[in-house]
Amino acid sequence: MPGPGNILSNVVLSQLEEHAPFGGVVPEIAARAHVEAVDAIVETALAEAGVPPETLDAIAATAGPGLVGGLMVGLTTAKALALAWDKPLVAINHLEAHALTARLTAGVSFPFLLLLISGGHCQLLGVEGAGQFQLYGTTIDDAVGEGFDKVAKLMSLPYPGGPNVERMAKQGDPDRYALPRPMTGRAGADFSFSGLKTAVRQWARQPEFRPSDRADLAASFQAAVIAILRDRLHAAMRMFRSAKPRDIDPVLVISGGVAANTAIRSALTQAAADAGFRTVLPSASLCTDNAAMVAWAGLERTQLGLFDSLSTAPRARWPLASLSAG
Ligand code: KG4
Ligand code: ZN
Repeated sequence: MPGPGNILSNVVLSQLEEHAPFGGVVPEIAARAHVEAVDAIVETALAEAGVPPETLDAIAATAGPGLVGGLMVGLTTAKALALAWDKPLVAINHLEAHALTARLTAGVSFPFLLLLISGGHCQLLGVEGAGQFQLYGTTIDDAVGEGFDKVAKLMSLPYPGGPNVERMAKQGDPDRYALPRPMTGRAGADFSFSGLKTAVRQWARQPEFRPSDRADLAASFQAAVIAILRDRLHAAMRMFRSAKPRDIDPVLVISGGVAANTAIRSALTQAAADAGFRTVLPSASLCTDNAAMVAWAGLERTQLGLFDSLSTAPRARWPLASLSAG
């Protein structure tokens, strides 16, 4: 069983400053910033790790899903290195990298239940192995991180919204605003966040809404998100249990950028414990996007001999469940 692993280097370059004036990621800026930074990042990573290229087993890079400009830069660089150093290429699905992080940090064994909450996704999955996922539920509209980012914008908080909304929420009253909790109590484990976002917008646009009300609105929003996640998680825990043998020790992994939120971490850990699930959470810096998780997914795929051709193209859309189909 692989993991836990040892991280020799994890260089993360944030482009937040470049995008902040626009309140979100601008694809052209992202692609150019990737081109400008990628060579130096590879050099720094190798130097920090103290690993000569000839000792590497493989070169892993994210191939999707996401903005194709940035993906193209990373994947093309990885192909060039694979060719120059005569190493196999591993094309990584970004979501699989989030999914397998808990094996890097804690050596969690398969199968486990995964709640993946990020800027682009909100899903509940059964993880059976690298490349083997069963989808229990997904958002039918916005991703949860997207909700945090939009709510931040509505309240004129800086991008990225998640950490700033969380900070605001700490000082607020979560019961002040009555906000909807879409899909809760419904069959299945799908999510919806757009009605919640719309309700926040309506409150924030009221003429009597003051900057001093922002903390209460942020706290009420975060409480609604937690209630939705908890309800859908309960449904997925039931599905996971009925699909798996009785004798396994059920584990919940929470991963993706929104899993950095401390209120969400503690509320969901408690909800899972009440249902008999042990929760494994990567540290906040390994929940938000990082290089180590991509390298780890590359390691797991390398051990299985799952390599990719140098003609692999980046993919804007690439659902995890499609990996299982091969
Ligand atoms: O996984 P990630 O770094 O990138 C994607 O793959 O999307 O997730 C980024 C998302 C953003 O929407 C950001 O606002 C959110 O994660 N996020 C948070 C927190 N930290 C990051 N959301 C809520 N609370 C946080 N502390
Ligand atoms: Zn991510």
